[in-house]
Amino acid sequence: MKKIAVTFTTLCTLAVLMLGCASNPAEKDLNDFRDYYSKRFPDTPTNDFINGVYSIDKGSRDQWESLEEFPPYEIIIEKGEKLFNTPFKNGKTYASCFSVPVDSIKSSYPYFDKKRKEVITLELALNDCRKANDEEPLKYKTGAITHLGAYLAFQGRGKTVNVTIDSSKESLEWYNRGKQHFYAKRGQLNMSCADCHYYNAGNRIRADILSPALGHTTHFPVYRNKWATDGDGMGTLHRRYGGCNKQVRAKPFEAQSEEYRALEYFHTYMSNGLTLNGPGVRK
Ligand code: HEC
Repeated sequence: MKKIAVTFTTLCTLAVLMLGCASNPAEKDLNDFRDYYSKRFPDTPTNDFINGVYSIDKGSRDQWESLEEFPPYEIIIEKGEKLFNTPFKNGKTYASCFSVPVDSIKSSYPYFDKKRKEVITLELALNDCRKANDEEPLKYKTGAITHLGAYLAFQGRGKTVNVTIDSSKESLEWYNRGKQHFYAKRGQLNMSCADCHYYNAGNRIRADILSPALGHTTHFPVYRNKWATDGDGMGTLHRRYGGCNKQVRAKPFEAQSEEYRALEYFHTYMSNGLTLNGPGVRK
């Protein structure tokens, strides 16, 4: 019996060395993901990936930097601040729903809620807060939710992305669902997120250079000129997910659906350790 136990221990030690047995499989994914981009873009310092396509394309970077000097989202941040501090009808404010200071709210999401057994994003938490205070929920892709998001992102600038995937079955299931979404081919064009933002990052598609998925989530919500034609230009991460699903002629999921929350969980985890720099401006 003792011998069997010893053999088993030896085997497991070997397996740990070779495969990372007993450690969290998400950690290995993260290391592989990171390695891939640093080999593909050896001139980009890791933390610069937070600047999306501008981290790998000098040409468009100059244009973007001059936009950032008078950022079009500045007025949006102000609107968000006002909203955040305006009391609900019952006299309470958003701050009453969060247990951390305002500059730490952004970096606390997304997380896996063990009691609810689901991933909670910042937008979901904001609407949960409204419901708990008898206010109507906000729309999830545009408008007030992006104003609040821009304010909280701005307050949280400089903090580090730090998503936890714990080894519980449910947390890993959510993570794997998001990972599956990222690598699964879809739509009439039969392309995955990975086809564009992993395997072809840095390559051109029509007029665009494809950004690396590393650093994708750090700067949302985002202002885009394209989005300013029928609104104030702002959009949430899930708005972008929907747009990218549509590009391959796939039916987008609802913003804040389980599917997109799982994707956000995986996608944000992959940027762990990078600096939060929202809100952002993109073409
Ligand atoms: C057919 C190619 C294609 C596919 C597939 C695709 N995208 Fe995109 N995506 C683009 C293009 C083009 C842009 C704009 C240029 C850029 O930043 O890459 C973009 C931009 C983005 C951005 C904004 C980047 C930034 O810096 O703000 C995110 C986030 C994103 N995509 C996520 C996804 C996700 C997640 C998927 C899978 C659901 C996906 N994309 C699938 C082409 C694609």
